[in-house]
Amino acid sequence: RDSDDIASRLLGWYDKHHRDLPWRVPPRELARGARPDPYRVWLSEVMLQQTTVEAVKSYFRAFLEKWPTVDALAAAQTEDVMKAWAGLGYYSRARNLKACADIVARRGDGFPDTETGLRELPGIGAYTAAAIAAIAFDRPASVVDGNVERVVSRLFSIATPLTEAKGEIRVHVERMVPAARPGDFAQAMMDLGATICTPRRPRCMLCPLREDCSATVSGDPERFPVRLPK
Ligand code: ADE
Repeated sequence: RDSDDIASRLLGWYDKHHRDLPWRVPPRELARGARPDPYRVWLSEVMLQQTTVEAVKSYFRAFLEKWPTVDALAAAQTEDVMKAWAGLGYYSRARNLKACADIVARRGDGFPDTETGLRELPGIGAYTAAAIAAIAFDRPASVVDGNVERVVSRLFSIATPLTEAKGEIRVHVERMVPAARPGDFAQAMMDLGATICTPRRPRCMLCPLREDCSATVSGDPERFPVRLPK
């Protein structure tokens, strides 16, 4: 299948060029059998919901230092959590974070390991549930954010305006997600969108999917995703 080739080319690129981020387990360690800590994956994904990677890094490290486990966070005072969150914005995220930690700590068997189970927790929407299921639990979930929408709309030169094309984009992602390494696939798509397939002046010469990409062939990848005039 073509989509398998796309996933393997992307994963080969990720093995070499992945960003080293404090919440990630690098692919070489995963290959040796290391497993991500669901608490760290969850904490990072909630922080990354409305905040940039650069801004999240120091907050993520500070939270882990203060509260290394979900039990530690559940035992914390809400006021201290709010203080540590200060500066990240969207403070309902911090309240939900604490509520979620309380529930997970009381469950006694850690975070749920499916998208459906994760969705039931406060502060975890469809996107975050898919990201945690893929990255922490190796579930073949489709993780679709703005970066992924841009990559996919360029790969297939999707001419439908983005608001209407979301379903179509999701179907493409569902087809591409590999059974092995779905978490690395999700993060590879994010990294590709953040470092190569950027909104302006994408670095197509460095892209592992150059030969698969219909927008590059057309010579004007910046046309995608198509947006409706405001
Ligand atoms: N944005 C949301 N989740 C992310 C992740 N795991 N890595 C990089 N950027 C992200």
